[in-house]
Parts: sequence; structure tokens; C-alpha cells
Amino acid sequence: MTDTTTSLWHEDTRPDRFDGVSMAIHWATLLLIVGLFATAWMRAFASDGDTAATLLYAHRSLGGALWLLTLIRLLWKFGMARTPKLPATVGPLQHLIARANEAALYALLLLQPLTGFLQSIAHGKPFALLGANIPVLMAKDKAFGHAVHDLHERGAWALLILIGLHALAALAHHFLMRDNVLRAMLPARAKNISPVRE
Ligand code: HEM
Repeated sequence: MTDTTTSLWHEDTRPDRFDGVSMAIHWATLLLIVGLFATAWMRAFASDGDTAATLLYAHRSLGGALWLLTLIRLLWKFGMARTPKLPATVGPLQHLIARANEAALYALLLLQPLTGFLQSIAHGKPFALLGANIPVLMAKDKAFGHAVHDLHERGAWALLILIGLHALAALAHHFLMRDNVLRAMLPARAKNISPVRE
């Protein structure tokens, strides 16, 4: 039987879905980001210092994990990943916007944990992250601390906006254009969750 999903791609030789490692990293990234925003925002409502400290430890550790995962993701992407071609429903301008959004997301996923790390070392005190103790790396610097705090806050909003656009685009492909863009990032079992435009 002919696979109707394959015929929507420019080249039939390209796979119609990402490989399992790329999918696992993609959805793990989303979970880590949810955890990062949850721990950061819950910390603002923490009723005592111990809870706030535990949430900050979790936040820093999730951020460190996300940074490492993003490095692995990029190595995988440019080394061994199986990447499907965008379907014919995607025009050149849309393609360019999608690639620019993707590049900005990768840049933020690498930079945001770094501004968080700099913010933490600017206190001039040791702190823990992913079970490791980070020693004092610089003397306390309030002005630098404020500057990187500002960058960290702006970076978080920029990340939220880009993720929102990315998710909206994926949903528009699935429900309006009815192509395989979202399905390509879903495991095989979820491949037929809604009709594909014939
Ligand atoms: C992609 C990764 C990350 C995201 C999306 C993220 C997001 C956030 C957000 C939304 C806040 C609250 C900002 C505010 O309104 O003040 C915050 C605060 C903070 N983050 Fe991150 N963060 C990330 C990684 C990290 C990492 C790796 C560290 C440290 C190693 C870190 C350290 C901090 C600290 C210390 C604060 C508290 C600032 C304060 O109120 O004193 N973050 N982060």
C-alpha cells in the first residue's frame, strides 16, 4: 500500500519523521523548559528560605542539564540526525522564517543558562548545581549581577515568545495546512492522529 504521508515531501528519499534520538531530545527540552519556568516562578511565591533555596537549586540544575542537552542536540543534529524535508506546503519565505526561529531558539537555549550561571557567580558565594559545588569564581559585583539578571529576565521572555511562535506554527501546520510537520516530530504510534490532506 502507498504511504500517502511520504508523497507530501519534496523528495521521497528523505524520511517522513525525525529519528528517535532527535524526538527524545526535542520533547525532553520542552519538559526541562517547563520545569525551569515553574521553579523560577514558584520561587517568587516560596513561603520560606529553605523552599526558595531548594527551588533555586532545582532551577540551576535544570538549566545546567538543558545547556548540556542542547550541546548534545547540536552535535547530533549536525552529525547523525535524520531530518525530514519540509513539505511542499511550505514556501521559501516560510522556510526562511522557520530556520531563523530555529537558529534563535538554539542561540537562546545556549545563552540563557550562561546568563543564569553568571548571575549566580556574581553573588561572590559558592553554590550547588547538578550535585556539584561551584566555588567562588569572582568577587561580589552588584552592578554586574544586575546587568546579567536583566539579561536573564529578558532572555526568558524572548525564549517564551519564540517557543510560542514555534508551537503556534506547528499547530497551524497540523490543523490548518494539514501537512506532516508536527507528525514528523511525533513517535510512530501518534502518526495518524488526524487526517492528512490527500
Ligand atoms: C534555559 C534556561 C533557563 C531559563 C529559561 C531560565 C528562566 C528563568 C526565569 C524566568 C527566571 C525569573 C526571572 C525573574 O523574573 O527575575 C529566572 C531566575 C533565575 N535564574 Fe534562570 N533560567 C535558566 C537557566 C538558569 C541557570 C542555568 C541558572 C544558574 C546556573 C539560573 C539562575 C537563575 C537565578 C539565580 C535566578 C533568580 C534571580 C533572582 O531573582 O535573584 N537560571 N530564570
